[in-house]
Order: sequence, then structure tokens, then C-alpha cells
Amino acid sequence: MKSKASAPGKVILFGEHFVVYGIKSILCSINKRVTVTAEKTKEKKISINSKIGKLVLQPNKSISKIDSPLKPFYYLANKAIKDQKEGLEIEIESEIPLGAGLGSSSACCVAGAAAIFKLFGKISKEKILELAIEAEKTIYQNTSGADCTVSTYGGLMEYDKNSGFKKIKDEPNFQLVIANSNIEHSTESMVSKVKEFENKNKEKFNELSNLESKLVEDVLKLIKENKINEIGEKINQNQKFLEEIGISNEQLENMIEIGQISSYGAKITGSGGGGCIFALTNESNLENTLKEFTNKKYECFPAKIDYKGLNTF
Ligand code: PMV
Repeated sequence: MKSKASAPGKVILFGEHFVVYGIKSILCSINKRVTVTAEKTKEKKISINSKIGKLVLQPNKSISKIDSPLKPFYYLANKAIKDQKEGLEIEIESEIPLGAGLGSSSACCVAGAAAIFKLFGKISKEKILELAIEAEKTIYQNTSGADCTVSTYGGLMEYDKNSGFKKIKDEPNFQLVIANSNIEHSTESMVSKVKEFENKNKEKFNELSNLESKLVEDVLKLIKENKINEIGEKINQNQKFLEEIGISNEQLENMIEIGQISSYGAKITGSGGGGCIFALTNESNLENTLKEFTNKKYECFPAKIDYKGLNTF
């Protein structure tokens, strides 16, 4: 019997990095997905297959000794077959660019946890999320849990580390244009870079955190009122804060300039240093924004908010 699950990637609309320090963030999942298929096998071994590689291992290996981006799947599979006779075969397909700030590894962990554990009985979304966060920690220990949460529950939400998530009920009619710098980045090293900034500039970081917190509260009101122009201005302000904490660079800023001119607002999404930026659009400027990025040879695509989250079949 095969078990299949798919989970969406995400965009952090507001609050990346500050969320690690307890500030509220606003996230949404997007209509780009990872699909994982899992199947029990007679032989007790774990085999994982994806476009980025293959991993075939015996169970009970120490996670710290595995050097592969596929290790969250190994973690989940190993945990699932601990008291079983069978092994597992796992297949991954993804529409989400890797290492680009779009939550591809979290979507893998969520879809992986669901597809694998569903083979062994009924499982709740809460439990899937818990397992997905555990698996994500095998590659990035300090995760705030934001990405796995939005990938599991889908839609638009506010999230903070202490109170968890709260869905935003409004369904604004905006669309995003996501542009990829194609510079790979590591979340862990960008988070460490911000930690260094925070250590050296306590007062400044505090001030920026307070400004970010106020900005997020303002945006929550603006979403209710569907004020896309003002939301765009807040996106540009948030970008300035990200530049101050040192996670932006020249290429990202070139891309952001294109986005800020052609849409309502643009900023980095995710940990920065590379990865993606997004621009806020609606039907009045979506096509033109895509054209501006394409003309300047940047890889880009439109994305809508996904309201489904984790899907199992
Ligand atoms: O670049 P990403 O998708 O891994 O985004 C990480 C978001 C951070 O706020 C930088 C870290 C976190 O754990 O929330």
C-alpha cells in the first residue's frame, strides 16, 4: 500500500529573523508543493529517492553521522519503523526551489511525516506538525517552527514562538511575484549572522524589534481593511529593517528595486543573503511586474496564497 501527502511552501510576508527573538510574524503558504509517497518494503532498510539524490541506509544509524539534505526523511522513517519488521521506500517530488527561502525543507518534513506515519495508523495534524519540526531540527536546530506550522495548516497566519499561530480569516485578493536570486543560502548561517549583529548592537536591535512589532500590528489592521497600497509601503519598510540587520546584499537590492517600482512593495522573504524576494501585486500590476523581472533576466513566477495546507491522499 502506498501513502501519499503533499504540503505547500511558504513566504514570510513580515517578520523573518525577528520571529526568532519572539516578535510576531505574518506568513502565508503558497501554491507550490512538495509531494511525498511512502511505501512499506519487506526488507528492513530505508530508501529515499528524489531529484537531488538517493539515500539507502540500514535503520538505527546516528543522525549526526548522515551528511545528506535527505536526512530529515531518514529521521522520520527510522522513527516510524522502530518497532516494525518492514522497511520503507520514500519518493519525493517538489515544485519548490531549494534553499531559496520558500520553505522547501519544511514542506518536505510536513509531507514526509504525514506520508510515512499514515502507513502505520491514523495521525492528527498536531502530531504531524510535531514530527515535522523534530525532523527539521536535524538540519536546523534553532528553527522557530514557523515554516512547518504554515505548511501544515495553510493560508495566511500570524505566528509567534510563544503563542504559536493564529489564522487570519480575511482572504485578501493579492498575488505575489517571487523572484529568485539563485544564490543558495543557509538559514543557520544567516540566523547566526543576525545573532552576531544583535550581540554587538543590543540597543539598535531592540529598537528595530519594537518597530517590527508595531509594523506587524499595523499590517494586521490593513489586511482587514484590504489596503494593498499601505501594505506595500509596510513591506518596503520591513525590507529596510532587514537591510539594517545585515541580511541583504547588492543583488537582492537590485531585485527589490525592480519589485518596488513595478508593484506595491517588495522585500526579501526568509533568511536572506540569497534566496528569493517577493513583490506584492494584484491584477493591475501582476503581468507588468513579471515582465520587468523577466526583462532583467531574473527567474520569477507568480504565486497565490494556498488555503489548503497539508493534503493527504
Ligand atoms: O530562509 P528560510 O525559509 O529558512 O527562512 C527562515 C526564517 C527565519 O526567520 C530566518 C528563521 C526561523 O527559524 O524562523
